Amino acid sequence: MTATPATPISTRILEPTNHSIGEGVWALAAGELVAFPTETVYGVGADARSGKAVAKIFEAKGRPSFNPLITHVLSLDEAKVVGQFDERAVKLGTAFWPGALTIVVPCLEDCAVHELARAGLSTVALRVPSHPVARKLLDEFMAPIVAPSANRSGHVSPTSARHVAADLGGKVSIILDGGRADVGVESTVIACLPGEPVRLLRPGGIPRADIECVLGEKLGEAGGTVQSPGMLAQHYAPGAIVRIDAMDIADGEAWLGFGTAAPLGGRGIAHLNLSPSGDLAEAAANLFAYLRELDALNPSAIAVAAIPEEGLGEAINDRLRRATVR
Ligand code: TXA
Ligand code: MG
Repeated sequence: MTATPATPISTRILEPTNHSIGEGVWALAAGELVAFPTETVYGVGADARSGKAVAKIFEAKGRPSFNPLITHVLSLDEAKVVGQFDERAVKLGTAFWPGALTIVVPCLEDCAVHELARAGLSTVALRVPSHPVARKLLDEFMAPIVAPSANRSGHVSPTSARHVAADLGGKVSIILDGGRADVGVESTVIACLPGEPVRLLRPGGIPRADIECVLGEKLGEAGGTVQSPGMLAQHYAPGAIVRIDAMDIADGEAWLGFGTAAPLGGRGIAHLNLSPSGDLAEAAANLFAYLRELDALNPSAIAVAAIPEEGLGEAINDRLRRATVR
């Protein structure tokens, strides 16, 4: 038996004001979905305590339910009500929150986050966002909000309200339009579990070196008892084929450059540059919007110039590599 798709609902895109954020809070309390800006990418939020509301996220995104969601809270103190923070997790939360770091910790026994949001795992992923709209929504809702990136599952994450509407229009009640997301790639996900090194599960908005500097040791790789079911190889993908570390461009292809190097070969159908000055933060902020823009032109492929594997380059290259998997 196949499930009947949900009837489309009307989606309102609203400027974030006291009034519209209040409407967002009401919608969340009624078990509806509200998309909102964070400093990394836009998230699609639901009441973390309600299995019914969380289920709507999986349905709206077409996301496999074995892929757990990030729970957003207002502060480290609130995070400690949900998860078990050891000394290392406290150190990292203190240093990087509010900000683009997600910490996976063991879930406390009376954890308010519904098990569907955790995909049945005994751990929970927590993040304290810094974006003022996300913070106001959390402050007024007075409870944890689960929010994966507000895109169709497997697609490129949204960095504007328009991107959210393109992917989830008709599926969410409200989109709070906070302009362009600053960081542009998702949060760095690490796991702090007892008896194990702190592991990097997903490179993201906080570079590995910054975390290692605070921790005073190298991050371990994903593995051990940590499960990272969301790290499917194919993810973050536009519709077009993506060719990375490209030096040349063929007719019919689109070029996504970085720095000053121009592509060899044909002219291609379009050229965009992630950062002409070679600034990785600027490149991260432009990445998903430019992939969407070039994809809309239906190129035979998107040829992407090499990006250095340092700082935010690790997260950018991670997303680009996943975009090449068909
Ligand atoms: O920047 C971000 O992190 C954005 C904004 C909206 O906050 N959110 C986001 O969520 O990217 P999402 O659901 O698209 O990615 C969550 C990642 C997935 O790779 C998932 O597998 C992992 O976090 N994750 C969540 N809970 C986990 C857990 N208990 N153990 C291991 N990995 C977990
Ligand atoms: Mg995502």
